[in-house]
Amino acid sequence: MTHSKRFASLVLSLLATAVLVAPAWAADRAPAAAAVSQQRMTNANQDDPGQWMSHGRTWDEQRFSQLTSINDKNVKRLGLAWFADLNTYRGVVATPLVIDGVLYNISAWDITTAYDATNGKVLWSYDPKVTPEAGRVACCGVVSRGLAAWNGKLYIGALDGRLIALNAASGKEVWSTQTLDANQPLSITGAPRVANGMVVIGNGGGDLGARGYMSAYDAETGKQIWKFYIVPGDPKVPDGVASDPVMPMAAKTWNGEWWLTGGGGNDWDTIIYDPKLDIVYFATGNGSPHPQAFRSPGGGDNLFLASIIAVKARTGEYLWHYQEVPGEQWDYDSTSPLMLADLNINGKVRQVIMHAPKDGFFYVLDRATGELISAQNFVPNTWASHIDLKTGRPAINPEAMVVEAPRLVTPNAAHNWNPMSYSPLTGLVYIPIQEQWMVVSRLPDGQFQFRLGRTTLGAGVNNFPELRKEMNAKVQTDKGYTLAWDPVAQKEKFRIPLPFNFGGGTLATAGNLLVQGTMNRTLAIYRADNGEKLWESPTQSVPVAGPITYSVKGKQYIAVNAGWNNAIVHGLNNGPEPFNVGPAKLVVYALDAKGVELPPLPPAEAVSPPPNTPQPADKVAAGATLFATYCATCHGQNANGSGTKDLRFLNADMHKDFSDIVLGGKFKDRGMAPFTGTLTPGQVDAIHAFVIARGQDDWQPVFVAPPPQR
Ligand code: HEC
Repeated sequence: MTHSKRFASLVLSLLATAVLVAPAWAADRAPAAAAVSQQRMTNANQDDPGQWMSHGRTWDEQRFSQLTSINDKNVKRLGLAWFADLNTYRGVVATPLVIDGVLYNISAWDITTAYDATNGKVLWSYDPKVTPEAGRVACCGVVSRGLAAWNGKLYIGALDGRLIALNAASGKEVWSTQTLDANQPLSITGAPRVANGMVVIGNGGGDLGARGYMSAYDAETGKQIWKFYIVPGDPKVPDGVASDPVMPMAAKTWNGEWWLTGGGGNDWDTIIYDPKLDIVYFATGNGSPHPQAFRSPGGGDNLFLASIIAVKARTGEYLWHYQEVPGEQWDYDSTSPLMLADLNINGKVRQVIMHAPKDGFFYVLDRATGELISAQNFVPNTWASHIDLKTGRPAINPEAMVVEAPRLVTPNAAHNWNPMSYSPLTGLVYIPIQEQWMVVSRLPDGQFQFRLGRTTLGAGVNNFPELRKEMNAKVQTDKGYTLAWDPVAQKEKFRIPLPFNFGGGTLATAGNLLVQGTMNRTLAIYRADNGEKLWESPTQSVPVAGPITYSVKGKQYIAVNAGWNNAIVHGLNNGPEPFNVGPAKLVVYALDAKGVELPPLPPAEAVSPPPNTPQPADKVAAGATLFATYCATCHGQNANGSGTKDLRFLNADMHKDFSDIVLGGKFKDRGMAPFTGTLTPGQVDAIHAFVIARGQDDWQPVFVAPPPQR
């Protein structure tokens, strides 16, 4: 140890002692707001366990907290300390940040608020005034998954593509820069991350014909530092950005004139940073159009779809990639959260990346080199029998390839964006799992028409109706659970069955706690070592976001956003009880907290039954194809919503105004883009027939709906 290092460690240990004796800052001097730095982030586990300074808490994004005041022995004493009514039925899916006693949260439409983390007092609120039309290109609601903080500033990736830096003390804008390519159907819903003074952000749009990319900005000025395209463009036209040198290699894995249909690959969520290696990693999305036949006829790996990519943080220069799903065609985004860890594998400590994406395999990679260490399926799996550790490639089942005839495939998004967590104490990763099948098929040759900004699903939905019906019955057998996975042994330790096929993000703590929102509209806490349920409390909406824990002046809190899109609610109206939800709320719990109660749920509004006029089968069939092409990205494959409105249960006014809404742009200010010039009145009529028929199939008297959205 050198002299200066010894001195530094002495200072650090003195500081650590000081933290125990008094708050880190003298009582008469308020700490600077959001004082997050490279050093503070690097030492967050040792020096700052009470903070949640970055999306996944620390650089490694393990969503693990060392706090133990709330633990498996006393968690039953947990009560509601405070809550914030977020006043919306739109999705609220963010992981909040907590820095030096201030909680920063981001709600629907990117409205950002700073609260006193001990009592919920609002310190400031900022509305970036996202134009409602920006909702047109957001498949899954006007949501944000989180924020970044650095050196006194807070960073918002706004839905409309602006990266906005706020003064964390006042909530006033410091700078704002547009990150999106003009004329591309892109949006931002992911949390920005800061790596060594640079804000890194991706974007979504891979379902609409976009070409995805990442970009990095100077955290102080907003000046762009680098940009990296995820899929190649026209090989004759270099982009003049950091990805240029590697694009010829990627282009060799594509066929035809793929750049005319975008290619996709968008990383709409996941970014991670290793400060020691100074590497930024991102995880890329699905291909666009979805069926490979329409974007790269004849096949090919289609780099860098569904991959993990490592670049030099400073320059965006390509270092390595690992492609999880070569030739991606099942909507297997790899955008699920990445996590760094040091794991003892075969007697050697390996610096790894862990990943459990939609495709259902758990991957462990060496994060310096990209070498695949192990891979094992964590759900039943029919698309690939295994991953060959020598080549790193999946053994793809030819029977699962997407062709015209429908095929039944699993998984269908085994684990999505909902954050997983890892406890170094139990050695387990906690993953919210959806065990689902899906029916895949593509349009017959010559029937797919590419239109930038319209869905590129290209799904065939009319052929083989009998076979399809049989297969759809199997899709109904979905289940959900939280999986405790041993990443070293690559096997299940235990599972916690969940009501319905969905669970929220997870948090693990050194108090032997596993925290997770449930579809029962509750927050639940389990023992992290064996999954035994210890505590559960109603939240009135479904906390799908990542929960956090923090401490202020020695007192520990647990917080989560309970708020999600109403879309799937109808699907849950299956039991005897109506599935009613309240407006989104940020709920915060502490030991022995008493006297704070959520207001009563607003009364459930009954859903009116669909019109009972029979719809002609051929019209419904034509409508189904059109729906799959033009509406399904936002309103769900079977019109049951996938983030935006469930169209099966429109009220009478909506049926009357159907054509005004779809062609006339009646709701364009809510994000429902008019289809004038794309669809004819006759086609809209057929879509309407399909929507009515879907309602007739599925309607039940117990259905309720939340009030209209804001
Ligand atoms: C890019 C996303 C997107 C696409 C594609 C899309 N919609 Fe919408 N749609 C929306 C949004 C957002 C709303 C407003 C939801 C709200 O107010 O909560 C909406 C609302 C509607 C409504 C009103 C529902 C209500 O009860 O308020 C109807 C009807 C509708 N869409 C039909 C369609 C049809 C038919 C198609 C295909 C031709 C389609 N939409 C394609 C996003 C989309």
